[in-house]
Amino acid sequence: KDERIAGIASAIRVIPDFPKPGIMFQDITTLLLDPKAFKDTIDLFVERYKDKNISVVAGIEARGFIFGPPIALAIGAKFVPMRKPKKLPGEVISEEYSLEYGTDKMEMHVGAVQAGERALVVDDLIATGGTLTAAIRLLERVGVEVFECACVIELPELKGRERLGDKPLFVLVS
Ligand code: PRP
Ligand code: MG
Repeated sequence: KDERIAGIASAIRVIPDFPKPGIMFQDITTLLLDPKAFKDTIDLFVERYKDKNISVVAGIEARGFIFGPPIALAIGAKFVPMRKPKKLPGEVISEEYSLEYGTDKMEMHVGAVQAGERALVVDDLIATGGTLTAAIRLLERVGVEVFECACVIELPELKGRERLGDKPLFVLVS
């Protein structure tokens, strides 16, 4: 296994009982403080996705905005933000998804992507998979092929991977 993965894993800080008792929060801000680990994170994704004809990197607000753009630049793809509701100024399409309590919406600008393009969806973490599923739906609704989803961290006990069905998911740390 890539020795860079161990460095990345140890740069992620786990904060117990945040934001609520019982939650072990996976804090990637400490990964960002470690230039070697941060660069290794981006490099591992770039090594996997370069030369795959990916024209779109879709990053999910908020933490997908940290990892998505450097990957997009390195593989020569455009970056498309998938945002929380009422943030994007142009015409949007939106997709509702479930949270632990209630629902939220994700929005994407109409015209940011074209039918037939190939996308990579990037976020920091997959838990239940609801967030990534909403992003996949937004892209597929407009005819974009989702090549894969990429996250730094997976919480396997929440079975998000199963929720994605046959959509491939690549993670660095599980
Ligand atoms: C966290 C995380 C993922 C999502 C994963 O984001 O950054 O985006 O939850 O959860 P799921 O797999 O169960 O859908 P959060 O909604 O807390 O928002 P943030 O990134 O804006 O902080
Ligand atoms: Mg998030």
